[in-house]
Amino acid sequence: MLLIAHRGASGTHPENTMAAFRAAWAAGAKAFEFDVQRSKDGVLVVIHDNDLTRTGLDPRAVRDLTLAELKSHDFGRWFDHKFAGERMPTLEELIDATPSDCLINLEIKQAEPVYEGIEKDVLDFLNKRPMVKARTAVSSFHHDTLKALRRLDGKVRIGLLPGRLPIEPSFELAKELSAESLNVNQERLTPEWVERAHKAGMRVLVYTIVKQEQILRAAELGADGVFSNFPGLKVPP
Ligand code: G3P
Ligand code: MG
Repeated sequence: MLLIAHRGASGTHPENTMAAFRAAWAAGAKAFEFDVQRSKDGVLVVIHDNDLTRTGLDPRAVRDLTLAELKSHDFGRWFDHKFAGERMPTLEELIDATPSDCLINLEIKQAEPVYEGIEKDVLDFLNKRPMVKARTAVSSFHHDTLKALRRLDGKVRIGLLPGRLPIEPSFELAKELSAESLNVNQERLTPEWVERAHKAGMRVLVYTIVKQEQILRAAELGADGVFSNFPGLKVPP
């Protein structure tokens, strides 16, 4: 079973920061996940929420802040003062620092209105780095975004986040997208997801795991991987 460090080692470090990613790699994570959006001046950046209110940093949306404005914020202190000074990484900064054997799950976080053309931006980024592209699966809850990705690129690896979509249309969409995995909330995980996925040659990855017993349940149900905030948790071989 594969453990994918969710937003880095986000249980113990401020999510989606280099501190969290480095901690995940140091803990031996062979795969990691992060969220991508776009700054006002068009730079792909690594951040989960559409705005900075949860961290108490800025009431404005990511899309309304320039890279310099985003970089001016301290993304570590809100989590713990010992991480003071952590900055939000750009996608490029993160990928440049990623160990060359580490698998990547790049989740595109859409917003309202959508980040027009972000699919092409992500593909342009990956196409400049074929070795990185080979190790990267792109996922999203925003299914039009995944369809656009597939239209633009027949080869890019896609993981479908069904969200609340019922199981039947989820599998129809996964097939349409030629997705390699269904990334399912652990609360929705049943043997049917796994059986159908495996029959169709797809994997089931489960989020978001924070406890050892949740890994055991996912493993018993036949899941192929887990997204966990704690990359030190043990997964079956
Ligand atoms: O990709 C799995 C997980 O990251 C999806 O949910 O909200 O943590 O991005 P969220
Ligand atoms: Mg995510």
